[in-house]
Amino acid sequence: MNQKGGVGKTTTTVNLAAALARAGRSVLLIDLDPQAHATLHLGVEAGAGHATVYDVLHDPDSIAGAIIPARENLNILCSETDLAAAPSELAASHDRLTRLRLALDQVRSRFEFVLIDCPPSLDLLTLNGLAAAREVFVPMLAHFLALQGMSKLLETVQRVNQAAGAADSLRVTGVILAMHDGSTTLTREVVADLDRFFEQAREQDVPWRGARVYRPPVRRNIKLAECPSFGKTIFEYAPTCPGALDLAQLAETIAREWDEFQARRATAPAPAAVPPPVPPVTVRAPTPRRGAAHGVPPG
Ligand SMILES: Nc1ncnc2c1ncn2[C@@H]1O[C@H](COP(=O)(O)OP(=O)(O)OP(=O)(O)O)[C@@H](O)[C@H]1O
Ligand SMILES: [Mg+2]
Repeated sequence: MNQKGGVGKTTTTVNLAAALARAGRSVLLIDLDPQAHATLHLGVEAGAGHATVYDVLHDPDSIAGAIIPARENLNILCSETDLAAAPSELAASHDRLTRLRLALDQVRSRFEFVLIDCPPSLDLLTLNGLAAAREVFVPMLAHFLALQGMSKLLETVQRVNQAAGAADSLRVTGVILAMHDGSTTLTREVVADLDRFFEQAREQDVPWRGARVYRPPVRRNIKLAECPSFGKTIFEYAPTCPGALDLAQLAETIAREWDEFQARRATAPAPAAVPPPVPPVTVRAPTPRRGAAHGVPPG
């Protein structure tokens, strides 16, 4: 998730899902954005005779029939433009924030990885995504303005956690740098500030205390921008381009760390009593030290 638009959320989600599926993992991709870009990226016609995430939010029990195969090991819960109306249609429902979670709980065990592509907002759709998720990945462009929304984003994750109770905690796993050009001083400074920000959070009881900036960044690569118009993933369209290599490596890292986490959990003793909820925090997001020098007021 990232409430900022055009920061690489869909490109990252679709191609990570594809990379995991190609590695033999069973994957469900949920397109939670009324723009339906993830659906289009996979060349699936939204709503063509099958239910979509819009229907699932209205009737969580319809999820099993709404999931359709898109590639080997890769399934999708499509979006459609009607989804834009769901937040107002569901506004009066007591369980409006947990509809997706209720639905997903019915099919979760069928998949090893469920990736949710959130819309560029912090509205009811994104909150449903967060309530259904275990981890948050934040695709981001490494420039000054990209950092401005971080505090709001992190506070939202914190709020979702508090609403769900500490036993069910959602964590921010990391930032994925998208469309990256590591040759500029500004980019390097923003990445260094992000590294420092997450490093300082290690000792705090916050959902991003284990977060980091993933390496490698996903390089700016025109092939990644071209492949959605062919309804292809980057691995089908240009499997050896720099963008494909970066995303494949990222998927490998995420899958390996998930396997390690599972192995640790399998051998760990049962958890003690549920800890009390953590108090709310005010988040000060990182700002580049030289922000003013770049003509943008810091903070
Ligand atoms: N590494 C990259 N190199 C070049 N172009 C890219 C790269 N990643 C994404 N793009 C292009 O940048 C644009 C925005 O990317 P994308 O749609 O993934 O962002 P988003 O955060 O999902 O946007 P939205 O907020 O509208 O959902 C798209 O045209 C996409 O093809
Ligand atoms: Mg998108």
